[in-house]
Amino acid sequence: MSNLSEAELIHKFKGISFTTRSSPELLNSLDTFDAREDDVLLVSYPKSGTHWLAGVITKLYNTPVTLTTPIELGDMSKLEELNQLSSKRIIPTHLDYNMLPQHFKNKKCKMIYISRNPKDTAVSMYHYYRENPNLPTVDTWTAFLDLFLEGDVVCGSWFDHFLSWEEHKNDKNILFLFYEDMKKKYKNFILPVSQNLSKIVKEISIFLGISISDEDIQDICKKSSFSEMKKDTEKENSDPSHTVCALTSNRNLIFRKGTVGDWKNHFTPKQNLRFDEVFSEKMKLSKMAKYLTY
Ligand code: A3P
Repeated sequence: MSNLSEAELIHKFKGISFTTRSSPELLNSLDTFDAREDDVLLVSYPKSGTHWLAGVITKLYNTPVTLTTPIELGDMSKLEELNQLSSKRIIPTHLDYNMLPQHFKNKKCKMIYISRNPKDTAVSMYHYYRENPNLPTVDTWTAFLDLFLEGDVVCGSWFDHFLSWEEHKNDKNILFLFYEDMKKKYKNFILPVSQNLSKIVKEISIFLGISISDEDIQDICKKSSFSEMKKDTEKENSDPSHTVCALTSNRNLIFRKGTVGDWKNHFTPKQNLRFDEVFSEKMKLSKMAKYLTY
């Protein structure tokens, strides 16, 4: 268990909840942070497949993601740590677009945004809350779902996060991906271009300007399957020198089920109806909403 009391685990910054491991001083100073043109950002709302994406990128560059926790997590020493990293820096973040340090935008750094059906995201986050001592206790799924719909969870509202990034999905320096698209042959998914992991890996490699053979792409896909990444994480846990995807200190909490549609095992029909109502209202200006419900 954490040594902090429940109330001390979370604080709000600009209306968004962060764990107290993200210090207000750091959040306040992010805008002073000096970006480099070749920085690559991995952006997501929590529980959307960040580690999966990081695993793929690690394999594409053949080097671990350079910053092992999101840019907003830590205290002022994080800025120093970032400055000392040699290029190319691969930087994860859960910040919404509006809170992203301005320098990344000015320098048009490449950013890859991964999104996931919010119902599955909520379920994944619920399990993460239950297992993670750095997060407040949630007693029931019902109680958690209320918090999620109100945006009263770490990193704020899923809806606001998605909408803030959707506005920039056609920016040349931003690649917009869906977790469900990375799940190979997911038969019910209805994106206009039905893709699978190898196509996505190819797309990422082109976006990042990495030339790679089809054979290597297949190899990356094999090594990035849920079971392989879970196995790698177990190795990492028992041998810290074996770093494959060191994006969190709670690595064993990350690889839970890795499926599409687990929400159907959690939502009651009434909860589903309510979620759909909130979704329709919040996402009424979104052009991508139809790809996120099924
Ligand atoms: P579940 O909790 O639904 O299993 P994040 O990395 O953003 O914290 O997201 C974690 C979610 O991504 C978890 O979802 C996890 O199982 C899933 N995930 C991680 N690696 C994956 C992979 N290689 N294939 C499919 N899903 C993966």
